[in-house]
This record gives sequence, structure tokens and C-alpha cells, in this order.
Amino acid sequence: MSARRDAILREMGLGPVWRLREPAPADAAEAPPAPIEPPAPPPPRAHVAPVVPPPAAAHDTPAPVSEVAGLDWAALTERILACRACALCEQRKQAVPGVGDRQADWLFVGEGPGAEEDARGEPFVGKAGKLLDAMLAAIGLRRGEGVYIANTVKCRPPANRTPEAGELAACFPFLARQIELIQPRLIVALGRPAAQSLLNTDIRIASARGRCFDYAGIPVVVTYHPAYLLRNPLDKAKAWEDLCFARRRMQQLIDGESQ
Ligand code: URA
Repeated sequence: MSARRDAILREMGLGPVWRLREPAPADAAEAPPAPIEPPAPPPPRAHVAPVVPPPAAAHDTPAPVSEVAGLDWAALTERILACRACALCEQRKQAVPGVGDRQADWLFVGEGPGAEEDARGEPFVGKAGKLLDAMLAAIGLRRGEGVYIANTVKCRPPANRTPEAGELAACFPFLARQIELIQPRLIVALGRPAAQSLLNTDIRIASARGRCFDYAGIPVVVTYHPAYLLRNPLDKAKAWEDLCFARRRMQQLIDGESQ
């Protein structure tokens, strides 16, 4: 393991936890921590766009999925920044559309902006963002280079509470359009709200880890949200396993395309 990778894993809090338990596999230089169960077959489901809830009196009607579906990046961004479809618009400083490579292979989807993201207009720039950057680096990725980062809701939930179902549903067409425009090879859902929105089903991260799901034909891997990992550092080793799983899946996708 290189000094740089060592440093990155230390940054993730994995230095003392992460040890190879098996003879080195073929890609020993970037070896995953332990064998991971093969992915279970994805659940039989077609993604159905969430039903848009009736608007609260003070807000506009959420954009119909079909309307947002036709927007280009500029129009979509404008629409997100001006959105008043749910109560989250009331207390935001600004909406946070997303950041990164618009032709990315990797899409990471978080929950919603926090205070720093709300102030700066960019996702994952606070403490959780620092950890996310370390997680990306641990699998050889860097924000903006083949990577796009977006949130499930684009406006900060007050006091960083979990977004409500109606808020997730109102915002989902924006994420759906981002995915259509990016066409990533793989999506990593960070935490439960992201996983539930994308997979349109009730899901627990602990039981969904190590499986490959599907969103509109794009593989989806789930893992813990960086903010959760900051509170539960012992689970960082599991997140590392999930990232290695995602990286292997990505390699399979790339290999499959070149055959
Ligand atoms: N948590 C998220 O889910 N997204 C951010 O942008 C920041 C923290």
C-alpha cells in the first residue's frame, strides 16, 4: 500500500482498522478489505417517479417530471435556484444544485445541503464533505474529475433535519434530470434518504450494503452517509468495503463495455 493511500485511509479513520485478511488478490495495490458477498439480484422493480404531493399554500406547484425532463443544464440550474416547490425554500440562503463533471462516470448522491453548503452553494464542503473527499481519494477519485456530486434535496433542511417525504418527492425531478443529463455509469447513494429516493422503496443501509440496485438501468450502490460516519467512526471500515465494492462494479462495467 502506498504512503499516499495509507495517509488517505488514516484520514478516513481506517488506518488501524483496515487490514488485509486474505492473500493479496490480483489488484493487491488497491486491495479491498475482505471478500464481499456477490451482489444479490436487484429487486424486481421499475423506478416510478414519485408522486408529487399537493403544494402547500405558500409554495408553487412542484415542476412536473415531464417538464423538468426536457431542460438543459442551464435551464435546470436556473429552475433549481428559483424553486419554491416546498417549504425548504423559506429558510435557504440559496439552493445547491450540484457540482462536478457533467460527463462523470460516478455520481454520488447525498441527502441535502448543510449550513456551509447553503452558504457557499456547493454540496459537501463542510466536515462531511472533507470526509467524502477522503473517501473518494481512497478509491482513486477526486471531486470534479469523472465525479459528480448532487443532493437529494437541493435546499437546506432547517437545523439539518432529515428531509420529509414530500420534500424529497418535490425535489426528485431535479435529481432525475441531472441523472439523465450526466448518464453516469454508477450511482453511489450516501445514506438512507438518497437510497430511498433513488430506489423508490423503504431501505436500510445496513441490509442494502454489498448489493447492486438499479435506477433507470444505472447500477446503484448504497453506503453510509459521511455525516453518519463522523458520528459512528467504527462504521468507516464498512463504508470502505462499500466503496471497494462500487469500484469493482465500475471496473466490471468498463470491462463489459470494451468486450
Ligand atoms: N450532507 C449532505 O447530504 N449533503 C451536503 O451537501 C452536505 C452534507
